[in-house]
Amino acid sequence: MVELDDLHAGYGALPVLHGFSIAVEPGQVAVLLGLNGAGKSTAVKALCGAVATTSGAVRYRGEDISGWSTATRVKAGVVMVPEGRRVFGDLSVERNLQVGSWTQRRNSKWVRGQREHVYKVLPRLDERRNQLAGNLSGGEQQMLAIGRGLMANPTVLVIDEASLGLAPVIVKEILKIARALADDGTTVLLVEQNVGALEVADVGFFVDQGEVTATLRGKQLKDGDRIRSLYLG
Ligand SMILES: Nc1ncnc2c1ncn2[C@@H]1O[C@H](COP(=O)(O)OP(=O)(O)O)[C@@H](O)[C@H]1O
Ligand SMILES: [Mg+2]
Repeated sequence: MVELDDLHAGYGALPVLHGFSIAVEPGQVAVLLGLNGAGKSTAVKALCGAVATTSGAVRYRGEDISGWSTATRVKAGVVMVPEGRRVFGDLSVERNLQVGSWTQRRNSKWVRGQREHVYKVLPRLDERRNQLAGNLSGGEQQMLAIGRGLMANPTVLVIDEASLGLAPVIVKEILKIARALADDGTTVLLVEQNVGALEVADVGFFVDQGEVTATLRGKQLKDGDRIRSLYLG
């Protein structure tokens, strides 16, 4: 289980999270929804160690990891695919994947095996192993960013705004991949502004002004009126 418990965090004098709490079970897809500036990225960065918290706990497997470095969290399986893809455009797909496997760099056999696993999960990358990442489409670059995250062998995979700017058909494909990863045992946190992501979710958290203001499960995930009213306030 991964849990953010009453987190407070911000940037310098700007407080952003005001008692942010979520709990996600292993193998679940959790979707964090909310308007721009609501604090979604800040919350997942706090989970991954990229933003310092001033109070509250980040629990992973029952332990408070809020004092751990990002690198230690990655090694323990908490991995983030940050917003904006940020693949290395002048490196091949294969080399980009290799970058993601730095935690296992001494075990080249494992890295090769994991790479083949990633190509099975993301077949579009398989066809493009030797292409420069800079020549991929936006959707393919997003898949490569996810693939790079998978190379770190995550237990918890956070994907921030995967669907931003992508064609609906690619978004569907990425959501399906997220679901399949979770069904395979990985805990997946999707940060999204696209409510369509709720279709693959086990739980949805609506984020507003640095707090979770609604939690949706089961039938509530399909309640379009409720979701619209959350967005419109
Ligand atoms: N690096 C930063 N420095 C200062 N303020 C930031 C930084 N990142 C985000 N913020 C501010 O924190 C608030 C929440 O941002 P963010 O967590 O990125 O929201 P979301 O991901 O929901 O769009 C916003 O007011 C944003 O301007
Ligand atoms: Mg964001």
